[in-house]
Amino acid sequence: MMDGQQRLTTSVFGTLPDGKEVHRFVLTSPYGIEVSLCNWGATVLQIQMPDCNQEMGDVVLGYDSLEGYLHDPFYLGATIGRVAGRIKEARFWKSGKRYQLGRNAGLHHLHGGEKGWSRILWDAYPFETNHSSGVVFRYICKDGTEGYPGNVTTSVRYTLCGKTLQIHYEATTDQETPLNLTNHTYFNLKDGGKTGIESHKLFIRASHYLPMSEAYVPDGSFLPVYNTPFDFMKPRKLAKKMDLPDPQLQRAGGLDHCFILEEEPYVPCMAATLREKTSGRSLDVFTTYPAVQCYSGNFLDGSQKGRGGTPYIRRAGICLETQYFPDSPNQPLFPSIFLLPGVVYQHQTFWRFSWGE
Ligand code: BGC
Repeated sequence: MMDGQQRLTTSVFGTLPDGKEVHRFVLTSPYGIEVSLCNWGATVLQIQMPDCNQEMGDVVLGYDSLEGYLHDPFYLGATIGRVAGRIKEARFWKSGKRYQLGRNAGLHHLHGGEKGWSRILWDAYPFETNHSSGVVFRYICKDGTEGYPGNVTTSVRYTLCGKTLQIHYEATTDQETPLNLTNHTYFNLKDGGKTGIESHKLFIRASHYLPMSEAYVPDGSFLPVYNTPFDFMKPRKLAKKMDLPDPQLQRAGGLDHCFILEEEPYVPCMAATLREKTSGRSLDVFTTYPAVQCYSGNFLDGSQKGRGGTPYIRRAGICLETQYFPDSPNQPLFPSIFLLPGVVYQHQTFWRFSWGE
């Protein structure tokens, strides 16, 4: 269904305690998808699309106002940097030097720390072409922030074209530094998070996953998914998987594991598909990253009132975080995430939506 024009509108979303304005950008595709973004955390605020009865509805979790995002402990829709996931004991060594990072998850460093990129105001540059609209978010992270070396210049470009939202990450540095960027959107294709994700079917194109230790970081081994609850090589209903009596699922309280796609591909490859039968909606994820961290929202606890006052209960949404492997700086067998001066970090992830027309 094509209806109307590709559009982009900009408005004030709220004001930060220091008086700076935060903007909301709404991208509308002629195919009926509407994506809202904001420059606090370079965040995906909202995605609305039709269902199989052509009823528009939310498919991601979010808050109604900036206030919700300022106090959000769950990283709803946010860009995560410098390093996604946990860094064990908040430290790593590079070239004989020890780097101590901020601890914001017990003894560990999570999602870039307190001053992570989900909690800063980015510069924003909206754009339109004949067939697409989008926003480029830019940020320069200073040497020493959260204990990381180097000034890092980053851009995250979102482009809505047809039924696909592209996220393009680019970064450079002036000192060698670890970098692993992702987006932390929680999907719920059924009702945007009013109920849980149990009715969704998930496919992940991964023959191996990384089991986690008690510290919630990979224990360094690679396990085949075959004959385990982690086998999503065929679409599987989440309700049937998340509470199976498997020690890894029980440790995480559900899925919170890194699935290995393949050695960093140079063209975007199919990573995962999420489908929901009653709404007829589905999401295909393509990426140039070598892994997807699949997190079934196990820590959501109803404490945060989301859109329209909905309390986001445990497993109200699922994150499919395309990225490198967590805790890579401390894991010699994992692909390196160190970015060197003179090299451009570039990755792309595509979310292609459909609704069973
Ligand atoms: C991680 C979880 C973490 C959550 C925080 C996810 O990306 O995998 O372990 O608790 O983010 O919202």
